Amino acid sequence: MSFRCAVQLGIPDIIYNHAKPIPLSELVKALSIPQIRSPYVYRLMRILVHSGFFAIEKIHEHLEQEEVEGYMLTPSSRLLLKNNATNLSPFLLFVTDPVVVTPFHFMSALFQGRGCLPVEAAYGMNIWEYIIKHPDVNKRFNDGMACDSQFLMTFVIQDCKMMFEGSKSLVDVGGGTGTAAKAIFEAFPNLKCMVFDLPHVVSNLKGSENIEFVAGDMFESIPSADMILLKWILHDWSDEECVKILKKCKEAIPSKDNGGKVIIIDIVIQEDKGKFESIESQLCSDMLMMVHTTGKERTETEWKELFVEAGFASYKITHALALRSIIEVFP
Ligand SMILES: C[S@@+](CC[C@H](N)C(=O)[O-])C[C@H]1O[C@@H](n2cnc3c(N)ncnc32)[C@H](O)[C@@H]1O
Repeated sequence: MSFRCAVQLGIPDIIYNHAKPIPLSELVKALSIPQIRSPYVYRLMRILVHSGFFAIEKIHEHLEQEEVEGYMLTPSSRLLLKNNATNLSPFLLFVTDPVVVTPFHFMSALFQGRGCLPVEAAYGMNIWEYIIKHPDVNKRFNDGMACDSQFLMTFVIQDCKMMFEGSKSLVDVGGGTGTAAKAIFEAFPNLKCMVFDLPHVVSNLKGSENIEFVAGDMFESIPSADMILLKWILHDWSDEECVKILKKCKEAIPSKDNGGKVIIIDIVIQEDKGKFESIESQLCSDMLMMVHTTGKERTETEWKELFVEAGFASYKITHALALRSIIEVFP
């Protein structure tokens, strides 16, 4: 919440535009708030420096002047600069949005009475119904997802390009507003891409010669292609629902020899706590799934069970993206 507040105030951009460590007094001036509120800014920045979102550095403006400290960006806060291609602010603002946070106050609903999802206890409906009914939330959700795709696909294409080579067509199932498909198409201009999502997400989006937006329900049927991308989809769903989606994917792709495969980008929980620094984020994401969806974050063993149940023959995991992994699944 402190970080959310700093982003809402535009602090990362103020520090960046200052181009050198910014002292508290100048930060307060740039925020256009009365100096009397400066202690609040000091306390906000103190915890964010402690958590590594900002850093502090000594500055000597003039030799005779007392040593002064100034705030600096760190790699985390650099990811929140507005004009940066990898601006993750919309994602941060969405996961800390009151709409997302409120159901966490209803977590006990899972364990009491007939045991409903916390999101249902909070809103009387599931998260997808809530998003459909609230266009403003739909926009914040899609913007959050899109900036994550923009960020992540840079690394997928840079480091795992060969996964997409040799294919003629791809369907990004649950592809949101098409950011991942656009990134793939830019790297592979001969690949025909389709973005498949619910009507309230894609109905008003205009495609291009090589990117088509198609509205539908992945539980009903999925358009055919050589490859299917499922980025951040299966962790939203229970094992039974995932098997249904995977079976629909299998129907939509050719055999492995003819280039058929499903590419999943999702978390694979690393259970070796000592060796893997993103484990806490993976487990926090699992709580987010527990509160908002019927899904969960899965270990490799749990993923494998889904693939076997859905009739796939083999899979290959690439742990390329810190928190998340890429799983290629072959029919
Ligand atoms: C967590 S978001 C991921 C979006 C995108 N793949 C990304 O990573 O940026 C899940 C997506 O699944 C879509 N979705 C949910 N239920 C669906 C269904 N039954 N059929 C197709 N898409 C669905 C949502 O609208 C949303 O865009």
